[in-house]
Amino acid sequence: MDVELAIKKRKSIRRFENEEVSDILVEEVIKAAKQAPSSHNLQNWHFVVVKDKKTKEKFMEQNVFVQKEICDAPVIIVCCADKEAYSKHSIREHETNMQLVNLSLASAFLVLRATELELGTCFVAWCNKEKIKKLLGIPRSKVIPFVIVMGHPAENPEPRSRKSLGKILHKEKW
Ligand SMILES: Cc1cc2nc3c(=O)[nH]c(=O)nc-3n(C[C@H](O)[C@H](O)[C@H](O)COP(=O)(O)O)c2cc1C
Repeated sequence: MDVELAIKKRKSIRRFENEEVSDILVEEVIKAAKQAPSSHNLQNWHFVVVKDKKTKEKFMEQNVFVQKEICDAPVIIVCCADKEAYSKHSIREHETNMQLVNLSLASAFLVLRATELELGTCFVAWCNKEKIKKLLGIPRSKVIPFVIVMGHPAENPEPRSRKSLGKILHKEKW
């Protein structure tokens, strides 16, 4: 699949088949994420992959996700940004939240590769990040802007609308 088709095909999938996603496929999407560009090539991102039913039950018990059905996803990828990487290198970019930019780029690569592998994904920010950190032992200093749920799609929703090019494209001047 070429990039143009993957971009066209990707859409948020929130319902999944009750079928395991192999570790090989999970590694494939993380490998795509790690190829993303990052400021100073710091690669200051981490992905905690949750497949264990018991962990998902804990998420459910503790109301980690506002949308309960999220816990039914075969894979929950907790996306973590590491702003400490900047302070260690005396780089002042933590002030501009560049770690979130880097993680977002890597995550975009991840979901496009997942699309190519016929996996469905959805970004989910509507969750209790502090509870996730505690349950998974993620250091407090890491920032979790979102998780990505992933699995074999069990729905095929209509593509969501997009603004026309004219509304966002400014040629030469605003
Ligand atoms: C940063 C981010 C956070 C999101 N959080 C949620 C969420 O908490 N719950 C949800 O159902 N969808 C969430 N979404 C998915 C968006 O609703 C979806 O991408 C948007 O409606 C466009 O639809 P599409 O992805 O199918 O093109 C999120 C998307 C992004 C990029």
